[in-house]
Amino acid sequence: MPEFPFPTAHPVPLFLAPMAGVSESPFRRLCRRFGADVVVTEFLSAEGIRRENPATVAKLRFGADERPIGVQIFGADAAAMGEAAAFVTDTFQPEFIDINFGCPVKKVVRRNGGSGCLKDLSLVESVIRAVARATPVPVTCKIRSGWSEEMRDPVTIALRCQDAGARVVTLHPRTRAQMYSGAAAWDEIAAVVQALDVPVVGNGDIKTAADALRMRVETGCAGVMIARGSFGQPWMFAEARALLDGREAPPPPSIAERFAVALDHARLVQAYDVDPAGAAIEFRKHLGWYVRGLPHSADLRRRLHQVGSFAEVEGIFGDYMAALEGGEMASGDRAADAAEAAMAAAAQG
Ligand SMILES: Cc1cc2nc3c(=O)[nH]c(=O)nc-3n(C[C@H](O)[C@H](O)[C@H](O)COP(=O)(O)O)c2cc1C
Repeated sequence: MPEFPFPTAHPVPLFLAPMAGVSESPFRRLCRRFGADVVVTEFLSAEGIRRENPATVAKLRFGADERPIGVQIFGADAAAMGEAAAFVTDTFQPEFIDINFGCPVKKVVRRNGGSGCLKDLSLVESVIRAVARATPVPVTCKIRSGWSEEMRDPVTIALRCQDAGARVVTLHPRTRAQMYSGAAAWDEIAAVVQALDVPVVGNGDIKTAADALRMRVETGCAGVMIARGSFGQPWMFAEARALLDGREAPPPPSIAERFAVALDHARLVQAYDVDPAGAAIEFRKHLGWYVRGLPHSADLRRRLHQVGSFAEVEGIFGDYMAALEGGEMASGDRAADAAEAAMAAAAQG
C-alpha cells in the first residue's frame, strides 16, 4: 500500500475532515485525543492568507498536540495560492498543505475556487504545481467526483492531481451539483485507489465506526476521513480505531461521560478563543450535537440553545442529570420529546 508522505501513528490513519466552523483548533485537539491520526484545518482563503488578514491568520493557529496537521487553502489564482502556501509553511510549518477542490458554496465557486476548479482541469494542475513549487512540505488535494453529473469523472480528476504533484488525494465522491445530498459513491473511491500510485483517502457518509471499517474493506483506501459523523461524538475515532485494528469497539459513553466530553471541549474553546461570549454562542451547535438522541431532552436542548456563557452549561447538564436520576422528568418534557420525535420522523419520511 502506498505510504503517506508524513508520519502517521497507524498504517491506515483516521482523518478528521476539514470543516468550516467545526474543525477548529479545540475540536481538532479533542479528536486527536480520541484517536484521530491526522487533522486538517477548515478551508482558508489564499487571498486572506496572502494579505495576512487577521481573522484568517488567527484561524491558522494550532497546538503541537494537533500534529500531524494539514492546512487547507482554496483559491483559483495559482500565484496567490503559491504565496499563501509559502506564508503558511514559513510561519506555521504544518505537516502538509491541502488544496480544496471540493467546496460547493456559491460565493467560493463563483470565483472558480473550491469545486469551481473542477470545471477546468488545467487550472487544477496549474494551482497544484504553483503550490508544490512554493513549499517544501507535501501538497495534498481534496476533490469531489466532478462539477456535475455530466462532468463526473473522479479517476481522471485524481490522476491529473497526481500528475501535477499531489502526494495524497482525498475523494468525497459526490459532485458539486449534489452538494451534501444523495449517497457518497464509494465505488468511485475504489476506482481511484486502483488508478493512483499515491495514497487515496476515502470520505463520505461515515456515520458510525462500522462504516469506517466497511469503507476501508470495500474500497481499499489508504486512510479514512470522518466529517459529519464526528459531530457531538469525537469518541467515534476510538471506536473506529478499535474496529480497524480487529478489536471490539469500546462501549458507547454514558450520559455523564458525554457531558464530561462536552465540558472538556468547552474548556478547550475557552482556552483558545479570545472572545468568550461569541465563542459560547458559536458553541451552541456543538451542545445540540452532544445531546442528540438523549431521553427527554427537549427542555435540555432548548436551554442549551440559549446559553450566552460557558458557565451556564455545567449547571444545565447538572439539572438534567439530577432530574433523570431522580425520575423527575416532567410529563410536559416527555410530551415535547414525543412531538419532536414525530416531527423528525415525518420530515425524514
Ligand atoms: C459544516 C461543514 C463544513 C465543511 N467545510 C469544509 C471545508 O472547509 N473544506 C473541505 O474540504 N470540506 C468541507 N466540508 C466537507 C467535508 O469535509 C466532507 O467532505 C463532507 O461533509 C462529506 O463527508 P460526510 O458525508 O462524512 O459528512 C464541510 C462539510 C460540512 C458539513
